[in-house]
Amino acid sequence: MELGLVTSNAGKVRELVAALEPLGHTATQRALEYPEVQAPTLEVVVEFGLDWLAHHYPGEVLLIDDAGLFVDALGGFPGVYSRYAWDTIGPAGVLALLGDGEERSAEFRCVLGLLLPDGGQRLFYGSCRGRVTRAPRGDGGFGYDSVFIPEGDERTFAELPLAEKNGVSHRGKALAGLVEYLGNSG
Ligand code: IMP
Repeated sequence: MELGLVTSNAGKVRELVAALEPLGHTATQRALEYPEVQAPTLEVVVEFGLDWLAHHYPGEVLLIDDAGLFVDALGGFPGVYSRYAWDTIGPAGVLALLGDGEERSAEFRCVLGLLLPDGGQRLFYGSCRGRVTRAPRGDGGFGYDSVFIPEGDERTFAELPLAEKNGVSHRGKALAGLVEYLGNSG
């Protein structure tokens, strides 16, 4: 299937394309924007975005992606505010909030929203448990990748090759659901 990726985040585009293209799907970044509402869950943000896109770009196949880092000791912050926290305090600010605390468990979550030509919408979810580092490490990836170590590894997301990150990440898991759906939907 030919999908339009509605995101300005080059890191997301790389991961989405890397998972979709080898399976025969075409994924192209589209220079469209949609309003990202402030909402209590990623799901509501994605649902609102899909409704908006369905209204403004009927008949298209579009994919949107909302994600966030939910830190247990911070009551889930930055979570749905991850973008805002990135733009304001940045990852260094999130590390500062945790200080020297031993409890550093966290979860990345991703919700992918697919808009279909008939206006139908599908959501795909993925999460990845892990922990927040004491200092950033690694040059790869994007966003909070350099401060997050997935469970079962000692490397940060920013130290993993893209294919390895996709193999364990929140986005990779949501993508697995999407790929299964695309495979079954003719
Ligand atoms: P949004 O999904 O674009 O709203 O992303 C919220 C914030 O989380 C942004 O600062 C992103 O850079 C960051 N983010 C989203 N996905 C990831 C990821 O897979 N790794 C690291 N940071 C991410």
